Amino acid sequence: MADKNGPVAVIDSGVGGVSVLRELISLMPNENFIFFGDSANAPYGEKSAEQVRKLTFDIAERLFASGAKALVVACNTATAAAVRRLREAYPRVPIVGIEPAIKPAVLYGEQELGKTDGSSTVLVMATPTTLEQEKFERLVGEYRGRAQIIPLPCHDLARLIEKGDLDSPETEEYVRDLLTPYRGVDSVVLGCTHYPFALHLIEKYLPGTAVFDGACGTAREAKRRIDAAGLAAERTETGRIEFFSSKSGETADMYKNFLKIKIK
Ligand code: DGL
Repeated sequence: MADKNGPVAVIDSGVGGVSVLRELISLMPNENFIFFGDSANAPYGEKSAEQVRKLTFDIAERLFASGAKALVVACNTATAAAVRRLREAYPRVPIVGIEPAIKPAVLYGEQELGKTDGSSTVLVMATPTTLEQEKFERLVGEYRGRAQIIPLPCHDLARLIEKGDLDSPETEEYVRDLLTPYRGVDSVVLGCTHYPFALHLIEKYLPGTAVFDGACGTAREAKRRIDAAGLAAERTETGRIEFFSSKSGETADMYKNFLKIKIK
């Protein structure tokens, strides 16, 4: 039986998962968290699903062996590639993944914009590997006829953010060239946990477009699963947050600094 006071593990290919970690902390301040970023192998979004699955399994195994009581896969790419099999391999552990927040974007088009004829436009920014997975196709299929969903593979964006280049001319030019053709879409879904750190640029080049990401929904689902499993921490004091990286000590410090960046 898992220890209630064990940590919740949060994983990503790198710094992006911090955008989910912040929501988890605000919802479950008394939990201990271990954040692990696989920056030595980032970006995942350019690797095959098989490679991403193997990397994700290796990390999950190590974290469970070190006492993690639950796992949040704070990476859309790793979720698409590995989460179903992880749940099969660890049926008793709460395992939560993140997927592109298409549902709230479709509802926004219908309810806020009154476009009930399927004409609202939803741009989905994600890694190539996420968009190639069957899981994504199924997700889009659920909303067929209710909105025009436009997948946009963003080949380099996670890599630029991973470098910490949030304001460099290179990142800005990349976002400008990528998004300018889509100016005027009703909503944009940030289908990669790195992208909220480029929100200032995304909003600049898609002015007036509503932005959705899955971090809050994922944090709520994680809390629900942890509570349902009877695994909520019993401590009353604020939990501890530890950062680890497959790269070097400095990279883990970078994750910590990203936690302080104000996204909205
Ligand atoms: N942060 C990851 C995601 O949500 C992947 C970024 C990458 O390594 O390509 O998809």
